[in-house]
Amino acid sequence: MSNRYAVVLAAGQGTRMKSKLHKVLHPLCGKPMVQHVLDTLAEVQVHDVVVVVGHEAEAVKSALGDGITYAMQAEQLGTAHAVQQALPHLQDKRGTTLILYGDVPLLTSDTLTQLIDCHIEQQAAATVLTAVLPDPTGYGRIIRNETGEVLRIVEHKDASEAERAVQEVNTGIYCFDNEKMWKALSQVDNDNVQGEYYLTDCIEILRKAGEKVSAFVMSDPEESNGVNDRVQLSQAEASMRRRICERHMRNGVTITDPDHTYIDADVKIGPDTVIHPGTYLRGRTVIGADCVIGPQADLTDMVIADKVAVSYTVAVGSEIEAEAVIGPFAYIRPGSHIGTSVKIGDFVELKNAKVGAGSKIPHLSYIGDAEIGQGVNIGCGTVTVNFDGAQKHKTIVDDHSFIGCNANLVAPVRVGKHAYVAAGSTINQDVPDEALAIARERQVNKLGYANKLPRKQGKKQ
Ligand code: UD1
Ligand code: CA
Repeated sequence: MSNRYAVVLAAGQGTRMKSKLHKVLHPLCGKPMVQHVLDTLAEVQVHDVVVVVGHEAEAVKSALGDGITYAMQAEQLGTAHAVQQALPHLQDKRGTTLILYGDVPLLTSDTLTQLIDCHIEQQAAATVLTAVLPDPTGYGRIIRNETGEVLRIVEHKDASEAERAVQEVNTGIYCFDNEKMWKALSQVDNDNVQGEYYLTDCIEILRKAGEKVSAFVMSDPEESNGVNDRVQLSQAEASMRRRICERHMRNGVTITDPDHTYIDADVKIGPDTVIHPGTYLRGRTVIGADCVIGPQADLTDMVIADKVAVSYTVAVGSEIEAEAVIGPFAYIRPGSHIGTSVKIGDFVELKNAKVGAGSKIPHLSYIGDAEIGQGVNIGCGTVTVNFDGAQKHKTIVDDHSFIGCNANLVAPVRVGKHAYVAAGSTINQDVPDEALAIARERQVNKLGYANKLPRKQGKKQ
């Protein structure tokens, strides 16, 4: 395998997005558009990647991080000029250089592999990835001779009537022999309708120098769709979402309604898990096997083991162990750890809370900054009073304790093992192991009280 390099163009302004955010940073299934391109490159073992930045360069760099090389194109003078900015990083290398656009995120590694294979097999100086489109308007057209050899690419704006009739278009993705590419680029001028330095001119330059130029026609033109405005952004998102759902279904996940299931690109799901509609699986969420997720689960950066059920729930940045049942209507906030076979029921909010195996918090509770042991029962309406107005404090409930309904646990406080808290108690001191804490007024029954009240007029006794 020859060495592989890549230049990703991401300097353009993307005015049609009408956005403060740089176009290539708009997220698609949970990831910046250009990150999809970089991830695809990683799949085909291209590790020497130069991203050409210009507009909002700092924002693009900070989103993509330090693992890649950046080249600055201060003024956008055309695609050839953009690629030239990568020259200092790649000029002496031998091998194949791929050119991609940061706003063409649907391209798959399969297609890229086919393009590279074709390029190597043909021993070409350049290979263009092309697509045959029913409506080629706006794209550069591939001009071939009678025997089918690629002669040049002509931009729509520069094309004649006859050339505009050609339906085979330049997707803007290419493989070049690295050294020949730099040589050709140095000869590109800006003598065209747009006054830009066109990368596409390299094709004709190479051809005229007697080099072999080839084209690979992609089977699914959808992959070459670029994103220029928010309508195309939504179309790209829909395509990618469908693709992601299909991948999971092929891997053994049941998705009952893929059109209403929203799974981010990097989410992992085990086999025989069922995902019901209205579910959002975001970020780096990992779900085990045999789970039932949804309807209406919104899970971000969650780690979920096998045989877990989650319905009508929002959960963020937490872990759930096997066989736990969550919801309906639970809210799991970051830093929580829910143990094996735990039940978290309706209108329960957890925040930074550990809940040990087999414990139950079935209804209407707020448990924040807490450590709940194993086999604990937290009665309906229990609240950890974790905030004193200035600081957060911790509540500990040890194994096999029983907290009665409507208890307030005023932190910092600890309830010992096998202890009981009576319903309606406000606990602000530690409860020893095996003790019963009652912290409420004793009940007083005032006998005959009803007879002492003034009677309302017209009302029977
Ligand atoms: C380009 C191709 C066209 C192809 C089409 C496919 C050229 C001359 N034309 O046209 O043949 O059919 O893509 O979508 O290459 N960019 C920079 N710096 C620049 C100019 C552009 O980084 O100075 C980046 C843009 O941000 C964008 C990409 O290069 O990501 C393409 O540029 P754009 O001006 O949109 O080219 P098209 O006119 O679409
Ligand atoms: Ca474009």
